[in-house]
Amino acid sequence: MKLAVVGSINIDQTVTAQRIPRKGETLPGGELRYVPGGKGANQAVAMARLGAETAMFGCVGADENGRKMIDNLKANGVNTDYIRVVEDAPTGIAIITVGENDNTIIVVAGANGRVDRAYVDSIKDALLGYDMVVLQHEIPLDTVHYIVQLCAEHHIPTVLNPAPAAEVPMDIIEKVTYLTPNEHEAGLIFGADKTTEELLRTYPEKLVITQGSRGVSTCLRSGEVLTVPARPAQVVDTTGAGDTLNGAFSVRIAAGDGMKAALQYANTAASLSTEKFGAQSGMPTAEEVKRAMGGVQ
Ligand code: RIB
Repeated sequence: MKLAVVGSINIDQTVTAQRIPRKGETLPGGELRYVPGGKGANQAVAMARLGAETAMFGCVGADENGRKMIDNLKANGVNTDYIRVVEDAPTGIAIITVGENDNTIIVVAGANGRVDRAYVDSIKDALLGYDMVVLQHEIPLDTVHYIVQLCAEHHIPTVLNPAPAAEVPMDIIEKVTYLTPNEHEAGLIFGADKTTEELLRTYPEKLVITQGSRGVSTCLRSGEVLTVPARPAQVVDTTGAGDTLNGAFSVRIAAGDGMKAALQYANTAASLSTEKFGAQSGMPTAEEVKRAMGGVQ
């Protein structure tokens, strides 16, 4: 199976602090590091580490950060042939504060904003050769919706992780194969009228809602609402845990797993990813996930 990610590529400027600062507050920082990130690139790396043949589609600037991010993807076994280097925008940057087992993130989109319809048209033939396309909300939303339509027309399954939170039009919800918001994103997309359980029952085996330390839930076709509890972890940094979950879920669904098995696997992979600093450094290999699951997949 060949998997594609169309999404963001960032360098993460990450600082640790004892806690997340309050509005107007200045706090002393711990360590400041520059590490590979971007929800798109993170998901591609998670997928490749788990053994999937993965290609990254997106844009970086013609700068040192862009070169480093492409090199990092290549080093992780991700195909970078379709990444466009743009002259008129810098590589995306995320400013991240890590504290109290949580984080805050501000993203400066830069070249990620150049992932537009014209770019998609230029890589369309290649993209349509993939077996599954994985998307997030860190490139222009118009592009995300354009790709969902395109993939639906060509019967290519899609996974849409609607992060950062933004509304998703009803026709796009109908067309994506899997929609994977967290609770906050689900609230924004669907409104507050329905409970999580009611929402899941409305979209069986399509809607997957992640709930942080409480795990991940979906509704099976049988009507059973399934919650896979989070695996306990020695948390160092939760940045990229959602990306690991999405990447791992996509890999296992593409490999033919059912929802329950794919979510158990993805949950384990995500929890392992929190045990190291940075979005990508803790992302596990398939062997590591297997071991953490006690040898069972
Ligand atoms: O999901 C984590 C990612 O969000 C970070 O790597 C950062 O780049 C932001 O895009």
